[in-house]
Amino acid sequence: MRTSQDVINRDLEYIYNKLKEELARLAGKKLLITGGAGFLGYYLVQSILYWNERAEEAQDIRLTVYDNYIRGVPPWLTKLEGNKNLTLIKHDITCPLPQDIEDFQYIIHAASIASPTYYRKHPIETMDANVKGLRFLLGYCRQQKEKNKPIEGFLFFSTSEIYGNSSPENIPTPETYYGYVSCTGPRACYDESKRYGETLCVNFARQYDLPIKIVRPFNNYGPGLKITDRRALPDFARDVLAERDIVMLSDGSPTRTFCYVADAIVGYYKILVRGQKGEAYNIGVEKPEISIADLAARVVDLARNLFGHKGKVVRQLSADTDYLADNPSRRCPSIAKARNDLDYDPSIPLEEGLRRSLIWYYDNRDAEDA
Ligand SMILES: NC(=O)c1ccc[n+]([C@@H]2O[C@H](COP(=O)([O-])OP(=O)(O)OC[C@H]3O[C@@H](n4cnc5c(N)ncnc54)[C@H](O)[C@@H]3O)[C@@H](O)[C@H]2O)c1
Repeated sequence: MRTSQDVINRDLEYIYNKLKEELARLAGKKLLITGGAGFLGYYLVQSILYWNERAEEAQDIRLTVYDNYIRGVPPWLTKLEGNKNLTLIKHDITCPLPQDIEDFQYIIHAASIASPTYYRKHPIETMDANVKGLRFLLGYCRQQKEKNKPIEGFLFFSTSEIYGNSSPENIPTPETYYGYVSCTGPRACYDESKRYGETLCVNFARQYDLPIKIVRPFNNYGPGLKITDRRALPDFARDVLAERDIVMLSDGSPTRTFCYVADAIVGYYKILVRGQKGEAYNIGVEKPEISIADLAARVVDLARNLFGHKGKVVRQLSADTDYLADNPSRRCPSIAKARNDLDYDPSIPLEEGLRRSLIWYYDNRDAEDA
């Protein structure tokens, strides 16, 4: 695997093999993904088109993406324009749904800014996407049922941040942990709107008996996460590819488990298809739980091997005074529920995921700063 295209092909094949049964359930159906132009959209969208390439024509999954492109229009999506099974619609999910909306059987609501730097820049837009946008979609699900065209699966993207700063006895964090979250801090626009979004989902599921499921992703990384995103790994990749020292904007002590995006995508489609209505599932990996300083050191080592990078890790205070406010000190999921109920079994090791990511960044070092 030497080019980003090799990485993508291998990841799409991996996702395809792990999801044969689940994606077959979507065959011949219509799927809507909101926020499909973002990081997770990169493989959420491409894995469906990859599946279509291998299916009989009648089995094609017809995919529509709604995105308002608040984070820019990614070139990879523009390149997919013209695919007969893909419809791209510029739509802000906080506005009423288009009048001519189709009858979708499956919906994934991923529209919401996920990068802390950007959601703090757009807090109202972030809250609206997770509450108002979600509310429009849930209303649509209810109407479809009344019209006798019921949806078969709905997935709301929540976040591990709903747990806030988990107490030590709640790490690894199970879905049953209630969380410890500020409702007024700089991250609250994201955390609290996701929490309320979850409340909307479980109540629509219960009151109207709708197949609505929730995922709480834990720190995904990999291809599609653009280099200008301001999350830790793309920042480190940007430093490496500019042939300078890696700058760490914290003391490096917070710990995380990092889940390679191909494994995460498998988990998301499994929940959409097989998850129980009104249930939330953690998706991530349980180990290794490493510090940001350790992550930076691993990136330096890998970059030395891959590109002959000569830099080291240095520390610097962020110009953004809220950069570290309410930043959880540890984040590590229990994924027992997804393992047991959905056969979710992430298997791409961190070193390999980081290697694939750096290869991908090498070919994707230019991105819109949005
Ligand atoms: N990536 C992760 O590790 C992670 C972790 C936890 C939760 N999530 C959640 O997963 C989802 C996708 O995350 P991501 O990393 O791809 O985010 P991202 O910021 O890369 O992409 C989000 C996409 O949503 C679009 N969007 C935002 N507001 C919109 C609106 N009002 N109408 C239509 N489109 C809108 C943006 O233009 C962008 O294309 C988000 O809901 C996020 O909160 C992601």
